[in-house]
Amino acid sequence: MEVPEKLRIVDMKPKIAHFREEIIQGLSRTPKQISPKFFYDRTGSELFDRITTLEEYYPTRKERMIIRDNIGEICSLFQKGSALVEYGSGGSVKTMEILDHCHGISTYVPLDISASQLEETAKKLSGKYPHLNILALCVDYTTRFEIPFLQLTGNIIALFLGSTIGNFEPEDASAFLWNVMDMLGPDDGVIIGVDLKKDPSILEAAYNDSQGVTAMFNLNLINRINSEFGTSLQTSGFSHVAFYNRKMGRIEMHLEVLQDMEVVLDGKTIKFNRGELIHTENSYKYDPEEFEEIANRNHLSLEKLWKDPDGYFGLFFLRRI
Ligand code: TRP
Repeated sequence: MEVPEKLRIVDMKPKIAHFREEIIQGLSRTPKQISPKFFYDRTGSELFDRITTLEEYYPTRKERMIIRDNIGEICSLFQKGSALVEYGSGGSVKTMEILDHCHGISTYVPLDISASQLEETAKKLSGKYPHLNILALCVDYTTRFEIPFLQLTGNIIALFLGSTIGNFEPEDASAFLWNVMDMLGPDDGVIIGVDLKKDPSILEAAYNDSQGVTAMFNLNLINRINSEFGTSLQTSGFSHVAFYNRKMGRIEMHLEVLQDMEVVLDGKTIKFNRGELIHTENSYKYDPEEFEEIANRNHLSLEKLWKDPDGYFGLFFLRRI
């Protein structure tokens, strides 16, 4: 298919992860760990999409509602001829509400590490929004980078949705905010979706859904190990564990080993002991003041905080100090 003039896809060559080495490394440590970036193979991405539609998993629904209920104020942040730069754009589903209503935006800059999803989404959007310039960048946005080919008459508003910032360690979240701040000028700003601290029973239900989709999502890592190494670990030998660690202010996801077993990965024997936990993900939750503090430390000031009526989720608008 020919790429229309208003659509440009740039491969910034993000470093690709070495699944086999990283898995062996993580499983050789005590405690064992598997990087959450390995969740998202084809099956994992489909399961994740299902998680976002679950009753118990409120963040997606709340965030979408906050955007919808405050769309007028959100649109007022964009000058005429401005750019919307989205970190981790994925399927850009929630973003379409903004693209539909905010007519100041002349250029949409989706950033994502997944080249296939980025390309697919960029093409779909260029069909849906024929007047919009789309500059899709395949990039690891946790590294420092510059946006090439960007020509604007208006400002830049950055967007980072899905409470993905909660999946970073706090020091990495802070470094991320610094990099974003560094890209912003005085008229620019950044909108960030953050899952807020609340009753642990609500948090824990969101990561232990009654249909077991989150469990399948977590256990899919075992299937992925099998398909990449040709091993035959049974998913029934592991169980999904997710709980709120109050001291750390985070949901932790683990795979619990249900029986002693061994597996050989590229010649290296890995022993699993019954009761052992393999750490697969953290999802940090913040109080509004806590998140504002981290923003301030990175020269960003809180201009606006939109929340849902229950106060479960926050959309923070920050500007450079
Ligand atoms: N960032 C979201 C969250 O932490 C989405 C997410 C990432 C997620 N990994 C997950 C949701 C694992 C459920 C399970 O909630």
